[in-house]
Amino acid sequence: MSEAPLFQVENLHAGIEGEEILKGVDLTINRGEIHALMGPNGSGKSTLAYIVAGHPNYEVFEGRVLYKGENVLELGADERAQLGMFLAFQYPTTIPGVSMANFLRLAVNSVKGEDDGEGGKKRIAPREFRKMLREKMQMLNIDESFATRYLNEGFSGGEKKRAEILQMAMLEPEFCIMDETDSGLDIDALRTVSEGVNKLYNDNMAMLLITHYQRLLNHIKPQFVHVMLEGQIVQSGGPELAEELEAKGYDWLKETASV
Ligand SMILES: Nc1ncnc2c1ncn2[C@@H]1O[C@H](COP(=O)(O)OP(=O)(O)O)[C@@H](O)[C@H]1O
Ligand SMILES: [Mg+2]
Repeated sequence: MSEAPLFQVENLHAGIEGEEILKGVDLTINRGEIHALMGPNGSGKSTLAYIVAGHPNYEVFEGRVLYKGENVLELGADERAQLGMFLAFQYPTTIPGVSMANFLRLAVNSVKGEDDGEGGKKRIAPREFRKMLREKMQMLNIDESFATRYLNEGFSGGEKKRAEILQMAMLEPEFCIMDETDSGLDIDALRTVSEGVNKLYNDNMAMLLITHYQRLLNHIKPQFVHVMLEGQIVQSGGPELAEELEAKGYDWLKETASV
């Protein structure tokens, strides 16, 4: 029997407050693949990311989300992270009074700490953690002072995204969803973030990049591009589809799609 796809969405109907936003989404992503999900504002892209992350406000009416063949909709958000999923959000939260280093230590211990056999977690040794943090920051060209700053407090758009990339580097996930990682970034910040992602990416992983614009895709190259319109994926193709959307906008799809 062949191995199950890394990530699979099957006939997903989901929404918020009883209202259906996703109207039958199907998507399969294998290891070694980068997919882009594009679409106009309000089409349901973030809803898909929130459902996959296990956001409590969203409801699933029908369908499944499988990760390594397991239905993750039955798992808590922390369990999804322990399985190797990572989600970077469009609007990251601020945690005043918690330094970047402490936040990362908690995150790494919760996701990667080993079971101590008593229902708890063995913590990563502080020395080992500091070494790992230093190495990852060097690799990503992030200044050491960053580790002592409070999470997202007073961070610029670019710094917030950098914090996310550093978190991703520390957690070493196998599957990442990045929701509008490019929004609000100037061209230098966009370059830093995409360089970071490209450094972290390897053939054992897969990634779903959610983006409204084509420009992120100049820096991180997807092999597959999907377009979401009114809660459905109405078109899939290769990188040329993203270029076509950039040139023609989304309206031509609205006319051809039967939504
Ligand atoms: N908290 C909410 N309550 C009600 N409707 C919502 C809520 N959040 C999003 N929506 C609606 O869901 C639809 C999809 O939104 P979203 O998933 O954020 O789209 P996208 O990320 O593609 O811009 C939109 O029509 C939006 O108005
Ligand atoms: Mg969105």
